[in-house]
Amino acid sequence: MKRTDVLLSPDAMARQREFTEKIAAHHRQLDHRPLALVDTFGCQQNVADSQRIMGMLRDMGCEFTDDPMAADIIVLNTCAIRENAEKRVYGALGQLTHAKAANPRQIICLCGCMAQQKTVADKVRASYRHVDLVFGPQALWKFPELLWEVYTRHGRVFSIEDEHGTIAEGMPVVRESAVKAWVSIMYGCNNFCSYCIVPYVRGRERSREAEEILSEVRGLVAEGYKDITLLGQNVNSYGKDLDTPMDFADLLAAIDEIPGDYLIRFMTSHPKDAGAKLFETMARCPHVAKQLHLPVQSGNSRVLKEMNRGYTREGYLEKVALARKLMPDIVLTSDIIIGFPGETEAEAMDTISLVKEVGYDALFTFIYSPRPGTPAAKMPDPATRAEKQVWFDRLLEAQNEISAQRHASYVGKTLRVLVDGESGDSRWPLQSRTDGGRLVHLVGDKSLIGQYVQVKITDSNTWALFGEAE
Ligand code: SAH
Ligand code: SF4
Ligand code: F3S
Repeated sequence: MKRTDVLLSPDAMARQREFTEKIAAHHRQLDHRPLALVDTFGCQQNVADSQRIMGMLRDMGCEFTDDPMAADIIVLNTCAIRENAEKRVYGALGQLTHAKAANPRQIICLCGCMAQQKTVADKVRASYRHVDLVFGPQALWKFPELLWEVYTRHGRVFSIEDEHGTIAEGMPVVRESAVKAWVSIMYGCNNFCSYCIVPYVRGRERSREAEEILSEVRGLVAEGYKDITLLGQNVNSYGKDLDTPMDFADLLAAIDEIPGDYLIRFMTSHPKDAGAKLFETMARCPHVAKQLHLPVQSGNSRVLKEMNRGYTREGYLEKVALARKLMPDIVLTSDIIIGFPGETEAEAMDTISLVKEVGYDALFTFIYSPRPGTPAAKMPDPATRAEKQVWFDRLLEAQNEISAQRHASYVGKTLRVLVDGESGDSRWPLQSRTDGGRLVHLVGDKSLIGQYVQVKITDSNTWALFGEAE
């Protein structure tokens, strides 16, 4: 792909702002301020996309609501990663038939990764006739134009072509908090892990220009954001498609130069591309959180090969050892898939032994879910769901013990946390995060929200730490 074909021109983006203006003018003629509801089903990338959609809706003159019955515009931003994610979306879509029946002028939009699949679009076309607009992640920047088409054509609109994807700069955004922000540094994925749908729905890898990222982060720091997470399916691929030679570690080092009181995190790092340069950069950059999400998926080298992950158990463990050598207090987390097609009990137990050997702070664990169109979905899968569940439960048991132990080791220590909101629990009214990203429930006053405070850890469990502001 040529860079000029990937980067959308300022003219193309200006055209979208014209559509936003037209819609805003149309909305001003209504007898009330239109209400919009944006519901997000997917990962952080999906959340970041929803914030862009909300930005566009705000510029169209909308306010926001959580009530589907009250909403004039509903956007479901969907996820296709596992069957369950898709089922939840179909459930939500089914529910919306009532809202639409009560308010026939309501506009229902389905976007995100699920919407990029032709099979899904066909199903929505045939069976979910109350949906007015379907568009994939690749068409996100065109949302104003597509919505205008719905208003003017009085018919249903589908935009799911363009599988390679583009880079759109300058989209408006509504951030969920004044403390934490997501910054996408790249889009798409070229890795084609054999179980995964993402490369098919998010298109090819494309990196934003470093200057764009740096100016976004500078702006956030100036506005007072303190916790900034860089997003990409594999941030370690950053820069491979840029004309200027720059890799992810260089980008981190450049961001770290921005003065201010903030921390930078990132996800996700693919183990095959993470190495000494990244870890050394993390270790020496004071603004970079000593936290690494390094998804291993499996602890068995045969399964890893079938997954097309590009590393072995031993190779992974060496990288973890190097990261720990350079950053002894690093917080490590991972994703695990249990029950990949053909995985045996012994192989699943290799994963548990790796989990014990590494001693992660926390895990995101999944039972394999076949995704139509991926190579793994065609592989023989003899283990039953019940067997996989037993292996899965053993994994959870092992990790819960490790998390509880790791959390217990914090008790009695005093550390810096960033207070990011209220918890809803009167005993521990505040919620905060350590520099390594661990959750701390806190006794303290609401006025501390948005600030760094020193906290004495008084208690812990498997999921969280508890403490008192000093
Ligand atoms: N790009 C990230 C992962 C994105 S998807 C990475 O490579 O690490 C988040 C997680 O969902 C994956 O790490 C994997 O553990 C899980 N996942 C992806 N496809 C899956 C499938 N078909 N079934 C079960 N879990 C899956
Ligand atoms: Fe999926 Fe693999 Fe890409 Fe992650 S790296 S998004 S698991 S294909
Ligand atoms: Fe889901 Fe798409 Fe993210 S499939 S996990 S929302 S990239």
